[in-house]
Amino acid sequence: MKVLVATDKPFAPVAVAGIREVVEEAGYELILLEKYGDKAKLLSAVEDVDAIIIRSDIIDEEVFAAAKQLKIVVRAGAGYDNVNLDAATAKGVCVMNTPGQNANAVAELALGLMVYAVRNLYNGTSGTELKGKKLGIHAYGNVGRNVARIAKGFGMEVYAYDAFVPAAAMESEGIIPVATVEGLYSTCNIVSLHIPATPETKNSINADLVGKMPKGGVLVNTARKEVIDETSLIMLMNTRSDLKYMTDIMPAAHNKFEESFPERYFSTPKKMGAQTAEANINAGIAAAKQIVDFLKNGNERFRVNK
Ligand code: 3PG
Repeated sequence: MKVLVATDKPFAPVAVAGIREVVEEAGYELILLEKYGDKAKLLSAVEDVDAIIIRSDIIDEEVFAAAKQLKIVVRAGAGYDNVNLDAATAKGVCVMNTPGQNANAVAELALGLMVYAVRNLYNGTSGTELKGKKLGIHAYGNVGRNVARIAKGFGMEVYAYDAFVPAAAMESEGIIPVATVEGLYSTCNIVSLHIPATPETKNSINADLVGKMPKGGVLVNTARKEVIDETSLIMLMNTRSDLKYMTDIMPAAHNKFEESFPERYFSTPKKMGAQTAEANINAGIAAAKQIVDFLKNGNERFRVNK
């Protein structure tokens, strides 16, 4: 059996070594395709592999068509909007993610972006503190929970909105549940996004919603760029000179944001949230173990397609 690690944005070498150990111990062969850039290289690498470990790499119909032996794709991470699930199902391929494995890394980065924002991008002027501020967590999943845990350490008052998590579950973790998404934005000084990119959430974060934030509001996006209605957010930030937008997923309109709001906007050049040795080890090794358990025992616990 051949297991391909196809990561345009590579894992830390220590994580690759861990993945190799799991794969080779199972008696399988590991093939490494990093920083491939060109899709043609991916298409040729997948031809005879049984399993693939990916990150944000695009696995579309064309990739599934090229991968004749493919049985399983594991997205080492949380969001699987980069995988065409219908094409996978049509080809009889199992798709999994590794929920929670990189959540702390993303959460720490979200808090880092918050500090950077309230300290005015470290420009030397007097900023504000996170302590005592109201933080709104938009979607209380694995990353949202980690953000909440760390934010409590900063002395923030933590609110959350999540249509799928019962209020009692949030309350039991010291979080103040908010019944509506509008309520979250109108209450909180900082909102941290942790929603997946789905047809329902795409472009859902717009001027109507963000415009409800109190003066000095900060929007932090470590989720997906697609959930932001960028045109509408730019219009809002033009009229609300108090608002800041901080992200680790470069917007399509990055240049426009940067030239319009040099002191109120920041984006990392690459998606950075999960880019730590620990997250790479946790998610990468979990992916390798899930592949072995699937191929040897048929375990489909983390399957995300039908
Ligand atoms: C995820 O969905 O797990 C995060 O967005 C991290 O993505 P990455 O592996 O491409 O850094």
